[in-house]
Amino acid sequence: MLWPDSFEAAALGSVASVQTTNQAASAYRNLAAVVYELDKPVGRSFGDIELYTELLKDTSGLIFEPAAGNGRMLISLASKGHAVQGTEPSADMRRLCERAATAAGVHAPIGAGLFSDINAVEAFEAVIIPAGSLQLVTSPQEVRDTLERVHRALLPGGRLIFDLDSLRGLFETSPSARSWAIDDGLITLSELVESVSPADQVRTSQLRYERWVDGTLTEAQLEHFVLRFWGHHEMSTLLELCGFTDVQLHGDYQHGTAITAETTVATIVATK
Ligand SMILES: C[S@@+](CC[C@H](N)C(=O)[O-])C[C@H]1O[C@@H](n2cnc3c(N)ncnc32)[C@H](O)[C@@H]1O
Repeated sequence: MLWPDSFEAAALGSVASVQTTNQAASAYRNLAAVVYELDKPVGRSFGDIELYTELLKDTSGLIFEPAAGNGRMLISLASKGHAVQGTEPSADMRRLCERAATAAGVHAPIGAGLFSDINAVEAFEAVIIPAGSLQLVTSPQEVRDTLERVHRALLPGGRLIFDLDSLRGLFETSPSARSWAIDDGLITLSELVESVSPADQVRTSQLRYERWVDGTLTEAQLEHFVLRFWGHHEMSTLLELCGFTDVQLHGDYQHGTAITAETTVATIVATK
């Protein structure tokens, strides 16, 4: 659900630049942002919008979403009357979010920022990180830093709610291809897994985006997409190390459903 990310993005044929820090902004720009919006526009739910809405039903204070993207979740919550605020490193994604907020007639401010820029103190009743976005940070130390920042940013009693894909995803290596019809042609996305590191719990894929007009390739973008997969117990332990209590898990966006061997995504709720 997460793609696209990356430390590398370049038009085919040119030399890619490589970012080396995990907290560097993952790409999510140009064709990648176009595809995100085609595939996951505001309101598109995987069951997550319903579950987050349920989990947040008694929340009247400010909800903060880092990595808010095109506003898929942020604007859905704002439309339900919640006070929301987001940050997002990709200017293309922020533009989509601002446009959608205007179209929906809601107040959903979104600023530029990475997880590592979260500096608020006791400001939010809830912090949400849906769609597995925390897995884009592949260094466990940097995830710990993010969780500590989130803990500081929450009001006493506030909650962090976020998703993690099953650890099984680390070994899902089948190639995939998808396409979307657009006004003047077709946009395609193909994914090839390049490497899996069980030691680091990291999977690296190549994402190749292409725009085709009348059967001619007019634009292409190649990215590396790197994800870290977490065990639920290691994440629960890390949350407790960072000061969270009462860590609860919900399987496959079903409120109160336990995690089993078949679960594909876990939503984790941790209280300050
Ligand atoms: C899978 S999208 C999720 C968007 C939105 N939260 C949703 O639920 O649809 C992941 C987002 O994380 C952002 N992102 C990538 N690296 C990040 C980082 N280090 N810190 C904060 N956001 C990051 C991307 O730009 C992208 O918009």
